[in-house]
Amino acid sequence: MIIIGGSSSENLANKVANHLGVTQGKVDIKRFPDGEKYLRVISDVKDQNVVVIQSMHHTPDEFLFEYMLLVDALKDLGASRVTSFIPYFAYARQDERFKPGEALSFKTVSKLIESVGTDEIFTIDMHQHRVLRSSQVFRIPSHNLSAMPLLANYVSNEARLKNPLVIGPDIEAEQWAKLAAETLGTDYDVFDKKRFAADKVEIRPRKANAKGRDILIVDDIISTGGTIVEASKILFSQGANAIEVACTHPILASDALNRIKAAGVANVIGTDTVPGPISYVSVAPLIAEQVKKKINS
Ligand code: R5P
Repeated sequence: MIIIGGSSSENLANKVANHLGVTQGKVDIKRFPDGEKYLRVISDVKDQNVVVIQSMHHTPDEFLFEYMLLVDALKDLGASRVTSFIPYFAYARQDERFKPGEALSFKTVSKLIESVGTDEIFTIDMHQHRVLRSSQVFRIPSHNLSAMPLLANYVSNEARLKNPLVIGPDIEAEQWAKLAAETLGTDYDVFDKKRFAADKVEIRPRKANAKGRDILIVDDIISTGGTIVEASKILFSQGANAIEVACTHPILASDALNRIKAAGVANVIGTDTVPGPISYVSVAPLIAEQVKKKINS
């Protein structure tokens, strides 16, 4: 078995390979002067089981195209099987035609990924609001893992929350709020959220009361930070003591982190599905565990 990381996830692939004690495959990726990508697989992959790790953060088109060059080349060079981990799966939010004529980006990206010969795909906390199972878009075996237990354990060890309450800022976040609340041994609630534009949301509370409690808000993605800022306003207005935030994919578009800090949030914790300033938790053990299962199956 060989682990290969595309240029978006090289460090993560290195951590996974170290965890498992297996070889990290070598690839040379650069740009031609005209902007085209060049990719060369250096390791011998003939008859090998290859695990590809490539997240699609920040420059998703570039990383998606690189992924396609890589997997197509691996198959062409005789790799017996390609199992892909796409920790942050871009375009999943455009899973519906919200306005007439819009591209169904989620479906298009899934088709592209299949078209190069990917045998099996793993994603992590993929955005699934309307499409609830990845098998609704993929015809190849697909699995969506969750980083929330890793995040909740980290917060539980680091933050020492007193009388904690876990909040999911919208209905979809219930799955993560439940997992985090189980880890912290406490209760959870979710808010109702309406999105008016990519950077404009309205949030309303439900039953839970944050008065006097330490809060952990959990979500899959922080993009503009609008969701966390609005949720924090409500929680502080109810009398929350302190707010910690944990998310799987810290995209942090423009000044999201400053906006969240300005709203009074104590700490924002993310994973390395999107490597950046708050990627305190690595998803390497989660990926390694799945690869180990594959090796032993
Ligand atoms: C959407 O429903 C997701 O679960 C996140 O809540 C959303 O992507 C966060 O976006 P933003 O940080 O821009 O509010």
